[in-house]
Amino acid sequence: MSSSQNGTGESSSHLDALLTRMKSAASPLREVLREIHAKYASLDDGNVASYIPELSKANPAWFGISAVSVQGQAIDVGDYEQQFTIQSASKPFMFGLGLEDHGREHVLSKIGVQPIGEAFNSITLDQVANRPFNPMINAGAIAAADLVEGKDYPERVTRMIDMFSRYCGRTVYVDNSVFTSERMTGHRNRAIGHLMLNFDMVSDQLDETLELYFQQCSLLVTCHDLAVMGATLANGGVNPITGVRAIEAEYVKDLLSVMHTCGMYDYAGEWAYRIGIPAKSGVGGGIVAVIPGQGGIGTFSPKLDVKGNSVRGIKVFEDLAQRYGLHVFEADDKKQSLVSQFSPPK
Ligand code: DON
Repeated sequence: MSSSQNGTGESSSHLDALLTRMKSAASPLREVLREIHAKYASLDDGNVASYIPELSKANPAWFGISAVSVQGQAIDVGDYEQQFTIQSASKPFMFGLGLEDHGREHVLSKIGVQPIGEAFNSITLDQVANRPFNPMINAGAIAAADLVEGKDYPERVTRMIDMFSRYCGRTVYVDNSVFTSERMTGHRNRAIGHLMLNFDMVSDQLDETLELYFQQCSLLVTCHDLAVMGATLANGGVNPITGVRAIEAEYVKDLLSVMHTCGMYDYAGEWAYRIGIPAKSGVGGGIVAVIPGQGGIGTFSPKLDVKGNSVRGIKVFEDLAQRYGLHVFEADDKKQSLVSQFSPPK
């Protein structure tokens, strides 16, 4: 009998998954996530992003919350299976690929790690180093996409997709309509790219790099995927469900640092103060957050506030951070183990 088979012919990993699902069905966290979902589902503030025409087609009522532990347990509520485009929530992960391809020194010569209190699409570079300020704004993300290696453009796209597939534990695909919409309206991103080309911050393959950037923003994910991606970073770079490494362990802290300081657009400082965990949002309405050593949380709701963050998503995280003392600098006696909340009390 192979190690993955038991006497009944069912694979043991299948049984493990079933057992995990049964346990998490009675978990205290499931009740809490259901309660939080019900509490904020009626919140109707904000607007669905429309600056890219395809994004405006999202249903404003969609709302999902997912949590995945470093042990691979998952709890999902609401529209957690609804696909949407990852948008800027892709940015930390592409920064990671750049680090793996070129190492820290080279990457930092092209992209800073300094927050700016400006909009994500600002056409600004650090005037001393002529670099983008950080990899979480468009300029830094385009510079990071430029660093993705490959013998030609198709290979670079494949490497990008393979990387996101490792994080999600399934093959991910690009939404072609959003991709087309992104590239047809991407004049501002082209302007940012050309400004960086002027300062040698990106290579002369800029046109392909911009296409790669539009592709990465147009990847379809679910709220559950975002939680798995967060849990992978919480777990030192190994996807806790598949056991597959998505990023070298040594670079995980690089990603978490820029998420912590720059991940939530020009709300990043407020987020770090109020919620206090590394996170990244996207204009598709997704937020991916990491509780290091414990797990990942993903939220999805397309209505955004003026800074571009999901209105309901922010509320969910404020609530969870308070309940469980998730803030990294929370006093020890207020911190609860999130991992223990995935299983029924013994
Ligand atoms: O570059 C753009 O306009 C988008 N595709 C990026 C989207 C996004 O979520 C903005 N983020 N920082």
